[in-house]
Amino acid sequence: MLFRIERMRRDLLPGVWRVEEGSFAEPYPRWYFRALLEVSDFFYVALVEEGVAGYAVASREGDLLRILSIAVLPPFRRKGIGGALLSRILDEGKAIGLKGAILEAEVGNEAAKALYRSLGFAECGVRAGYYGSGRDAIVFRLNFQGAPDKKPFTSSMDPY
Ligand SMILES: CC(C)(COP(=O)(O)OP(=O)(O)OC[C@H]1O[C@@H](n2cnc3c(N)ncnc32)[C@H](O)[C@@H]1OP(=O)(O)O)[C@@H](O)C(=O)NCCC(=O)NCCS
Repeated sequence: MLFRIERMRRDLLPGVWRVEEGSFAEPYPRWYFRALLEVSDFFYVALVEEGVAGYAVASREGDLLRILSIAVLPPFRRKGIGGALLSRILDEGKAIGLKGAILEAEVGNEAAKALYRSLGFAECGVRAGYYGSGRDAIVFRLNFQGAPDKKPFTSSMDPY
């Protein structure tokens, strides 16, 4: 599968909406991606021919990257696209001297958890009810090489 990773652009918004709405039962609203396009330095898409097959977006929080969302259209999954998108964002973070990255995944989201582990993320805590009542999130953290490790936390502690 030939794909390429490019920075997000305004003309690709409809493609990102398609990926989001084809990936999540409760997608983010369209305005959210329009807003992220204005403010995020870490917003990438995977293009197959000229169509958007996936996207990943992150924000900077102090010396950490927070991965806000990632999704790949179902027919294009398990082809390395999610890993390539996330790796691109992590490389950007490293290049500007950030210390690591943090993200959440729903407890039962096996694909996402496997993807994050494959990139070196480790579980560091749980956020009870993060996705709604009875739907907990596992918090994952990756420390970039050379950055000091942090102790695991419980849901009552700050993951930073
Ligand atoms: C999670 C998601 C982005 C992964 O994207 P992807 O393009 O399929 O991921 P990749 O092909 O790069 O997978 C890289 C590795 O992650 C792991 N992985 C990914 N999907 C997996 C699955 N369904 N089951 C087990 N392992 C999986 C594997 O180790 C895989 O490597 P391999 O294919 O060589 O075994 C995709 O499944 C998706 O869009 N899910 C719906 C949206 C979502 O849940 N987003 C995350 C919210 S926290």
